[in-house]
Amino acid sequence: MGTVVTITSGKGGTGKTSITGGIAASLALMGRRVLCIDMDIGLRNLDISLGLSDRALMDFSDVALGRCPLARAAVDHPDLKGLSLLTAPMSLPANLTPDKVRALLNTARTMYDYVLIDSPAGLGAGFRLAICGADRALVIATNDTSSLRDAQRTVEELEHIRQVHLVMNRIQVKLLRRLRATIDDAMNTAGLPLLGVVPEDPQVILCANLGQPLTSRGKRGAAQACWNIALRLEGNRVPIMRIR
Ligand SMILES: Nc1ncnc2c1ncn2[C@@H]1O[C@H](COP(=O)(O)OP(=O)(O)OP(=O)(O)O)[C@@H](O)[C@H]1O
Ligand SMILES: [Mg+2]
Repeated sequence: MGTVVTITSGKGGTGKTSITGGIAASLALMGRRVLCIDMDIGLRNLDISLGLSDRALMDFSDVALGRCPLARAAVDHPDLKGLSLLTAPMSLPANLTPDKVRALLNTARTMYDYVLIDSPAGLGAGFRLAICGADRALVIATNDTSSLRDAQRTVEELEHIRQVHLVMNRIQVKLLRRLRATIDDAMNTAGLPLLGVVPEDPQVILCANLGQPLTSRGKRGAAQACWNIALRLEGNRVPIMRIR
């Protein structure tokens, strides 16, 4: 049975979509079958990040509401074997309940090794659907006070999820030094164990805009960090990467 992992944050723009794409591509390169579900209803952009822009005709609500089978709605990545995307609808259908999303996820668990859900920012209806059937959650935060406070608030909503971890994104050592901040402090504020640290890396912006998976330009910087997170999801012990 596959594992459902929700990537969430509370605060917007912390890197949920970028990191979902990076981990998904890494797991696919490791030979896993991965379904990404974009649950950022109305503001979807995981398709752009994965280079699958405008390929999807059906979305996850079509599958959850029984209008289309999962196998037909999921779009396969042309270059990354094993990676598929189920996109988000442009608006939230009134009859899309958590029970229907959980049933969709149960079907997906039988077809994929991992289901990665890209959650919207905030704690609204889309977020509730994104967390309702998860086995694990990754809370993505950056090292600023508002992001960490929002992460802390988000964690309170994730009590039903078995394993919840923190991923610190856009880390710049010089900035941490100037702020006299540490990753340890961040873990304490968020109240979560750490699964990974992702450096500030212009390749993230470049790859997203070129529609190339983060792993396509070699395993350095943020791509290496996502690869390490994927290895840890697989149960491997990998040292936290050193960021200069
Ligand atoms: N490690 C990084 N280094 C440099 N830029 C990054 C990094 N992570 C994310 N970004 C950039 O930050 C911006 C926001 O990232 P992204 O869209 O992944 O965040 P998000 O949490 O999904 O946002 P939203 O809440 O709007 O869905 C993008 O321009 C992305 O390229
Ligand atoms: Mg996003």
